Amino acid sequence: MEISTAFVAGATGFTGRAVVEILCKRGVNTFAHVRPDSPSLDKWRESFSAIGAHIDTTSWDDEKKLAATINAISPGVVFSLLGSTRRRARLEGLPAKAAYETVDYGLTVRLLEAAEASSVKPRFVYLSALGADKGHGEYMKARKRAEERIRKSELPWIIARPSFITGKRDEPRRGEKLAATVSDTCLAALRRLGAGRLQDRYGSTSNRALADRLVELALDPAAAGGIFEGPLLTVG
Ligand SMILES: NC(=O)c1ccc[n+]([C@@H]2O[C@H](COP(=O)([O-])OP(=O)(O)OC[C@H]3O[C@@H](n4cnc5c(N)ncnc54)[C@H](OP(=O)(O)O)[C@@H]3O)[C@@H](O)[C@H]2O)c1
Repeated sequence: MEISTAFVAGATGFTGRAVVEILCKRGVNTFAHVRPDSPSLDKWRESFSAIGAHIDTTSWDDEKKLAATINAISPGVVFSLLGSTRRRARLEGLPAKAAYETVDYGLTVRLLEAAEASSVKPRFVYLSALGADKGHGEYMKARKRAEERIRKSELPWIIARPSFITGKRDEPRRGEKLAATVSDTCLAALRRLGAGRLQDRYGSTSNRALADRLVELALDPAAAGGIFEGPLLTVG
């Protein structure tokens, strides 16, 4: 079945906005979800409208409304591109563990359940992280549990596990940027010594390259039930 409509949760994120743009360019009727209490709602309304996307502002707090929204929009694919960070948690006055539990696990499962409850049964594309299957640390634990729940779903799901996501962000992420640079430099050196597969698996990816691949996977029925990381995620 060809996909003509998409719902993107986490549309305001670094990866999400690139996914929205690529979907619109490919002629997919795209609904970009923005939380209703976003302080930048007007800005998002303007920038998403300018590229031809619709804005949806259904509250995360009302499960039934979220399911009704998915039902009404009838997307062929739902993207879950949400996530918290230590910095975001601090700004929202939450311990990091609570933020990972509420956002990385909680909102993902809420979105999945809304999609499951709809009559459309869309594909569900989940942006996870490399190492989620190991579940070390609070962030990865939340990701692991979200993945486990998604894999039990009867919806056709796709899980993507990138390493670092690089590019020019609005907010400073110096630690992440430094870690990506150090990691990429070491991996490039290892490639010269013949360990190129490590670079393929652990190398960073730009938000645009990742978004391109996520859209490609979302539109490919054969990708359902797949977990994509390393070369599978970056090579088209
Ligand atoms: N960054 C990396 O290097 C990296 C590596 C591997 C995997 N990942 C994973 O990939 C995903 C996307 O990464 P990214 O860098 O594109 O993310 P990002 O720019 O930090 O965007 C996160 C998205 O989640 C939403 N969000 C966060 N907290 C929320 C809350 N309390 N309620 C509602 N929405 C909330 C944000 O909405 P607002 O704009 O409204 O806040 C935004 O749309 C994340 O899940 C991340 O864990 C990231």
